[in-house]
Amino acid sequence: MNKNFYITTPIYYPSGKPHMGHAYSSIIADIFARFKRLEGFDVLFLTGTDEHGQKIQKEAEKNNKDPKKFCDELSETFRSLTKILNLTNNDFIRTTEPRHFKSVNEIWSRLIKSEDIYLDKYSGWYSVSDEAYYDTDEIEDKEGKKISKISGSLVEWVEEESYFFKLSRFQKKLLDHYKKNKDFILPKSRRNEVISFVEKGLKDLSISRTSFSWGIPVPDNDKHIIYVWLDALTNYLSALNFPNTDDKKYTSFWPADVHIIGKDILRFHAIYWPAFLLAANLPLPKRVFGHGWILSDDKKMSKSLGNILDPIDIIKNYGIDQLRYYLIKEVSLGNDGSISMENLKNCINNDLANNYGNLCQRVFSFIKKNCNNKIPDNNNLKENDINLINNIKNNIPKLIDFIDNQNLNDYIKMVVNFSFEANKYFNDSEPWSLKEKDPNRMKAILFTIIVQIKNISILLNPIIPISTQKVLNTINLSNKDISIESIKRDNILDCSLELKSLDILFKKIDNDN
Ligand code: ME8
Ligand code: MG
Repeated sequence: MNKNFYITTPIYYPSGKPHMGHAYSSIIADIFARFKRLEGFDVLFLTGTDEHGQKIQKEAEKNNKDPKKFCDELSETFRSLTKILNLTNNDFIRTTEPRHFKSVNEIWSRLIKSEDIYLDKYSGWYSVSDEAYYDTDEIEDKEGKKISKISGSLVEWVEEESYFFKLSRFQKKLLDHYKKNKDFILPKSRRNEVISFVEKGLKDLSISRTSFSWGIPVPDNDKHIIYVWLDALTNYLSALNFPNTDDKKYTSFWPADVHIIGKDILRFHAIYWPAFLLAANLPLPKRVFGHGWILSDDKKMSKSLGNILDPIDIIKNYGIDQLRYYLIKEVSLGNDGSISMENLKNCINNDLANNYGNLCQRVFSFIKKNCNNKIPDNNNLKENDINLINNIKNNIPKLIDFIDNQNLNDYIKMVVNFSFEANKYFNDSEPWSLKEKDPNRMKAILFTIIVQIKNISILLNPIIPISTQKVLNTINLSNKDISIESIKRDNILDCSLELKSLDILFKKIDNDN
């Protein structure tokens, strides 16, 4: 069985500071990466910054900076966000790096070799902020300005000499691929959207620009620079040391298992990217998952509405696990979802503090008081204890399946439910009433509940890694034993060791805070 797993985020434009939307995509990808590692996979998790093109050049000019200097500074804020978000990315790619130039040049020459590139003239609409070409029927007037119906961003008329990619040639091949690989584009609604777009026919795509200079020059014609999307998409290969297709990274990790993206860039990933790869005679990624839009108080976040939620501020005030958990619990992955400070606080209090956090704290302090601070030895479990434990074990294949389909909603629902059940079991079995009456029964209950805490903590670990690791360290589980395999093993608990002390896991938030 292939035990390698390659997952990517979009590479973000460092045209401004990172915001909640960027944080969201990265956290999602990190959760999948962490889960696959817990399953024993060798995971490559890539993120980075997309630094070429007109949008970046203009932004640099506005700031009176040389574009490379400008990118150096802003790319650094994205790199530091990976630390703040507690991401486990193994690499951070910048499209201004030499390794990326090499790989883009190779793609270009493969497309030349396959005769999919020709020189002509482009005339049409272009949005600098999306770095995208739009057809006339995708444009509308708004307050005397031309904007894209799709993104709402300003477009301008462009007429210039340009190299074209024979995208039209790939219509049938792409449709065949979507048909044969039902999970190539997820969720399903996105897949349908792409199929009906491609069914309408594909026009050849302009893949070079001449009216500015910030980018990778076209080999043999440096009047042209390569279209930023052809440049950017290739990053997924550059990180594997492509063009060296004998390289271990390339052979182990290509094709990618999943590109995590937002729905705004679906067309680029689900149509252009596979077409480029087909032309270059390279395997296609296994999946493109396009998640929905994060809204703030039901509206798109924007400076003018003043509803921008800054991930860094929230993390400072409430903590990174809290933000990670909230985004996953509140926004159903794949759909748009609204977030608000109010709901964030409720979620921290109800789910984290009162449910999982409270369960751990109560049980640990009970054991400290009544069992010399050691997990009681496994003896005489009753049927309902065993059923409780087995309910998690038996659901492991289902949980893995949820993750493999990017169904984080059902995953977290099930795990939170385990935690509710564990709380209920603890309340209903009233171990405090058994101290004298039946100490052996009390011990069996405590053993059972610790097994549940271990297993729930492992399952929550990809989502709230810091808190769950504290809990697992408290019960003396070593880091190497934090794995899906350990859920199957009760005897992994060491009953001879004292529990380590644990600070408050999740502070409750007052509502006027
Ligand atoms: O498009 N809600 O970069 P970008 C959810 N460089 N996700 C959001 C979001 C929101 N409100 N806002 C942004 C680019 N995102 C290109 C990508 S990839 C080869 C090149 C996330 O900085 C989401 O993942 O505009 C979206 O697709 C991405 O940020 C766009 O980031
Ligand atoms: Mg964008």
